[in-house]
Amino acid sequence: GITRHYKFNIKLQNVTRLCHTKSIVSVNGQFPGPRIVAREGDQLLIKVVNHVPNNISIHWHGIRQLRSGWADGPAYVTQCPIQTGQSYVYNYTIVGQRGTLFWHAHISWLRSTLYGPIIILPKLGAKYPFAKPYKEVPIIFGEWFNSDTEAIIKQALQTGGGPNVSDAYTINGLPGPLYNCSAKDTFKLKVKPGKTYLLRLINAALNDELFFSIANHTLKLVEVDAVYVKPFETDTILIAPGQTTNLLLKAKPTYPNATFFMSARPYVTGQGTFDNSTVAAILEYELPPNVRSNSMKKKKIPLFKPNLPALNDTSFATNFANKLRSLASPQFPANVPQKVDKQFLFTVGLGTNPCPKNQTCQGPNGTMFAASVNNVSFAMPTTALLQAHFFGQSKGVYTPDFPIDPLIPFNYTGNPPNNTMVSNGTKLVVLPFNTSVELIMQDTSILGAESHPLHLHGFNFFVVGQGFGNFDPINDPKNFNLVDPVERNTVGVPSGGWVAIRFLADNPGVWFMHCHLEVHTSWGLKMAWIVLDGKLPNQKLLPPPADLPKC
Ligand code: C2O
Repeated sequence: GITRHYKFNIKLQNVTRLCHTKSIVSVNGQFPGPRIVAREGDQLLIKVVNHVPNNISIHWHGIRQLRSGWADGPAYVTQCPIQTGQSYVYNYTIVGQRGTLFWHAHISWLRSTLYGPIIILPKLGAKYPFAKPYKEVPIIFGEWFNSDTEAIIKQALQTGGGPNVSDAYTINGLPGPLYNCSAKDTFKLKVKPGKTYLLRLINAALNDELFFSIANHTLKLVEVDAVYVKPFETDTILIAPGQTTNLLLKAKPTYPNATFFMSARPYVTGQGTFDNSTVAAILEYELPPNVRSNSMKKKKIPLFKPNLPALNDTSFATNFANKLRSLASPQFPANVPQKVDKQFLFTVGLGTNPCPKNQTCQGPNGTMFAASVNNVSFAMPTTALLQAHFFGQSKGVYTPDFPIDPLIPFNYTGNPPNNTMVSNGTKLVVLPFNTSVELIMQDTSILGAESHPLHLHGFNFFVVGQGFGNFDPINDPKNFNLVDPVERNTVGVPSGGWVAIRFLADNPGVWFMHCHLEVHTSWGLKMAWIVLDGKLPNQKLLPPPADLPKC
């Protein structure tokens, strides 16, 4: 591989959407942010310079960061944030990965405007396991808030209530023609008849899983989270925040006298308010050279809209998840751990914290909303966990006693228990190098069942099983797929159900795991794993770089 240099100047930029202008935190004044393009095997040196009042940290979502945990980016987990006027060079090499990923801010809610694609091409001379597309197009979903997202989450955490929802979903930063005052802000994809396009979909939205479809066109799904899958055709896909999906779009062989909406809207299973509107972009066929554009334009061109599933269509979500299978070919094998060294059962879900004295709170029954893993709501430390671990200074920063099973088992998906209170702490799990882990993540219905897209840093994992109700440790494992389960970095824990994943802890460091719905992360649905060094020199975390930010 080669070394590629990027510079990210973090600065304020005025952006107008839906007739509202606001000053956003941007990279190089661009919104969405710039693309990172590299090949498998390349080294990236990305210098991030902070010119804004906020603390900044950038995460390279889905990059494995083998031994380079210092470059992973979650604030107070692998590094202290980059303060105003400071800079940090993220230095990592892309090992064994090719496909679509993305980068985003990993501090507070700044990823609402700080995000962009990472495109990893195969090594020079290596091919895709499908015919080379005519063109490749990133399609990045986001959420636009007319007001300041830092103020929104700050207020929600102070009052204990649910934060305001966004004012629009966006495709490549644009809300599209279905919103007021937005017709000009529409992403348009022009295609040539008969050609095949690789759409690189990224869900960078803060808080919503999305259905996506293109009217009158079939999509062929070929990759998720930068891992090839067995291709299959579908009209609609589901993509959670933190997930990426590559689709082949074959343009119709002849010029259709029509334009087509590419639309997305949310999949919502929880309670509460959400933005149920639709974002649209336009797929338009380029005029054939023998047609005079004027005569063509005068005709009224029909416009087709896709049918998207209902907002709470969990059966679509389930069927779609079941269709995802690793390619599991000789060239791209699925290295599913066949034996398990350690098994964990984590409940994930919402709960409450008591309202501070002399305050009124806007959470359930006057409490404050919280969220937890095994009833522990994760308290962010004020110094970075990875440094504390590396320098043996865990005292006062974290404790290695994360409960590996729910302490008091209950009927997770039945009637909610009377006591909805969480406990709070900075608790981690410690894993010896090369531990083969099986993790069952069980949704709870404490404040209503809800789908939670769980993201693990530092690893890909295999999704070996999923189901509804409570996980049955005797019978459910009999149906696990250990042959060609999908390999990814973010998986939806089914609403009112469970998902089983396996991964090999072959990457020393401290690795964050959390719900990628930002509101749930803010409420504490997060935890971290420590993976210890192995014995061999190439099984150890590299030393921290000299410019690692200080807290
Ligand atoms: Cu994409 Cu910890 O995040």
